[in-house]
Amino acid sequence: DAAEKGGYEHFMRKEIHEQPASLRQTLSGRIDLDRGAVELDLEFPKGYLSSVEEIQFVACGTSYYASLYAARLFEEIADIRATVSIASEYTFDGGRDPWRTLTIAVTQSGETADTLGAIRRAKRAGAQTLAVTNMLGSSVSREVKNSVFIRAGPEIGVAATKTFASQVTTLALLAVYLGRERGVLSPSDARSILEDLRGLPGGVQQVLDNEASVKEAAVAYQDSDAFFFVGRRHGYPVALEGALKLKEISYDHAEGFAAGELKHGPLALVTDNTPVLAVLTDGGNIPNTVNNLVEAQTRGAPAIGAISESHEIDSLDVGFEVPDAGLFEPLIANVYFQLFAYHVANEKGRPIDKPRNLAKSVTVG
Ligand code: G6P
Repeated sequence: DAAEKGGYEHFMRKEIHEQPASLRQTLSGRIDLDRGAVELDLEFPKGYLSSVEEIQFVACGTSYYASLYAARLFEEIADIRATVSIASEYTFDGGRDPWRTLTIAVTQSGETADTLGAIRRAKRAGAQTLAVTNMLGSSVSREVKNSVFIRAGPEIGVAATKTFASQVTTLALLAVYLGRERGVLSPSDARSILEDLRGLPGGVQQVLDNEASVKEAAVAYQDSDAFFFVGRRHGYPVALEGALKLKEISYDHAEGFAAGELKHGPLALVTDNTPVLAVLTDGGNIPNTVNNLVEAQTRGAPAIGAISESHEIDSLDVGFEVPDAGLFEPLIANVYFQLFAYHVANEKGRPIDKPRNLAKSVTVG
């Protein structure tokens, strides 16, 4: 066991630290910068990808949050309507135009019962289907004609970490692929997105190098009554994921909100003992999110921000620097939240790799 953990006390921390390497694997051989193109082995009927009108993502848990991030990327990069359903809530019956619908199951394990149920339903309704998974030969890849592997390597910790990063990265590659296939993304725009993706392993490494400061914040705030995470646009799913990570492994009350919603209810819960953790990165409307954060700070809440290195915000109680990465800055900010959750849970002596009541893969509906 100790050898498998490679010197780390927990698989989760090992897997957090593996992210630069696993992201390199995810990207390896798939980017052609000269042509501004992505190479993926996909087989759809001729002309199909140009005629698709809607992408539907179905997923659970962390994979659902990765899908929320991806849906925004698909709309921006491939100019296509993208919807996201929690798999257990998916009700598609072909009511729209199933032939112009692509349903994508996002599932690390490829075995989640609700996600399998949803993708079967999409198939029955006549949609084309695709799986984005970490497991070759898993049940989901047997259900669909096309699979894209995220290549994150085995993940043992119940709380998903490196697979989230590789899911979003794979889906971003897919968005660029689709944008180019559909003729809506120029080679030079594709190139700039692909360059940001190629910078991800290095960007994540910079965050990992700051782990000591994250641990310090975790120690300082571990006894808080609750933790709120906020973000906008691509930062919003990361706020949801940050809160999920913390509640899963520390058993503390943690919730994620769209930053703009703080004032529509959650603010009533804010006290001087409820830190607010914010994603303050590019594309996430930093000034408005800072305003939301200040509203919480005025009520005494400690403000912790993951901030783009190109911005300076003095009013925060704790600031973590996020290197430039365009649309992917929130993905890098997420690594701060992973480390924060880990250290809060570790200070409390929680069984981090196997939280109570949770399973790595949920095969019942
Ligand atoms: C379980 C795991 C989560 C995971 C979710 C979906 O709840 O504990 O970490 O995000 O299932 O799993 P999947 O394998 O479909 O991505």
